[in-house]
Amino acid sequence: MSSPAIDLRSDTVTRPSAAMRRAMADAEVGDDVLDGDPTVRALEERVAQLLGKEKALFFPSGTMANQTGVWLLSRRGTEILLDAEAHLIHWEIAGLAALCGVQARPVRGTGAVFDADALRAHIRPLSPNAPQASLVALENTHNGAGGKVTSLEGLRAIREVARANALPVHMDGARLWNASVATGTSVGDFAACAETVMVSFSKGLGAPVGAALAGSTAAMTDAWQTRKRFGGGMRQSGILAAAALYGIDHNWPRMHEDHERARELAAAVDGAGGARVVPPDTNIVMIDLPAGITANDVSARCGEHGVKISPWNATRVRAVTHLDVDRAGIKRAGEVLASVLEKSRRR
Ligand SMILES: Cc1ncc(COP(=O)(O)O)c(C=O)c1O
Repeated sequence: MSSPAIDLRSDTVTRPSAAMRRAMADAEVGDDVLDGDPTVRALEERVAQLLGKEKALFFPSGTMANQTGVWLLSRRGTEILLDAEAHLIHWEIAGLAALCGVQARPVRGTGAVFDADALRAHIRPLSPNAPQASLVALENTHNGAGGKVTSLEGLRAIREVARANALPVHMDGARLWNASVATGTSVGDFAACAETVMVSFSKGLGAPVGAALAGSTAAMTDAWQTRKRFGGGMRQSGILAAAALYGIDHNWPRMHEDHERARELAAAVDGAGGARVVPPDTNIVMIDLPAGITANDVSARCGEHGVKISPWNATRVRAVTHLDVDRAGIKRAGEVLASVLEKSRRR
């Protein structure tokens, strides 16, 4: 029998462990839309406390929590300033336009992710003929940049520019857990740089579903209604919240292993066949391919050898480490990727 595939397409592919499933089965539940679910309440309090915000709200997805943050903080007919490679631009099916009525103003910095200077340069002088900005959105870690962390210092500088221009900040912190593990900065210190912060449970924490949005009590009161309007009111959702709590308690403390695995994979692949790896800060490994081979080809050939990775764009593939792939799996993935890349040079 062939061994199961090593799936590095995303950290969303993790399956709930037996212990996580037991925690879900044992969760105390209620009707969270009607009069509350005790396990959801416990999760929301835990997340609010970790992020240093007055309140947090459990969401079915990071996308819905992101869109709710933008909905709350932006104004229709304005623009939101965010990194050119942001998840909010590329992977949320134009929700900014379709749901929130705002235009994305992509900011490109000189580094992997935009910085305070780039933000300053993108703020338009007031004009009756130009769109006004109403919001800045950050992403930390930054998926499209290869899991890059923006340091606390960098975030504070961005925050200052936003403040000087009376712009609130939303943070897509789907992988803020990883940023904290990689830097030692608390998620609360990162979160202090934004009015609303989204964190995801279904990535490195290994839960099957869910995210949270955190902010002021007033903002979360509005967010409750927005979540309901977007179709995200959930009933006995304590079953899902229990998985998220389990992930915070048991899987967050081991997340540094994913970062080690990413560095091992990067070292095994960098230079193979002329490929260049973006040095990983966290658990995302971006591999820039040499001329003459496409991302689709590399992904397909790795798949034939039992290693699943994602084409990111025509010339870049992405591999993401997570708790369901151990050191031996990463070693094997590195060998397969390196061999596919080497062979592609010889073709
Ligand atoms: C940076 C980032 N933001 C938001 C999301 C959306 O999360 P969800 O898949 O739960 O909607 C993702 C998912 O991959 C992500 O990587």
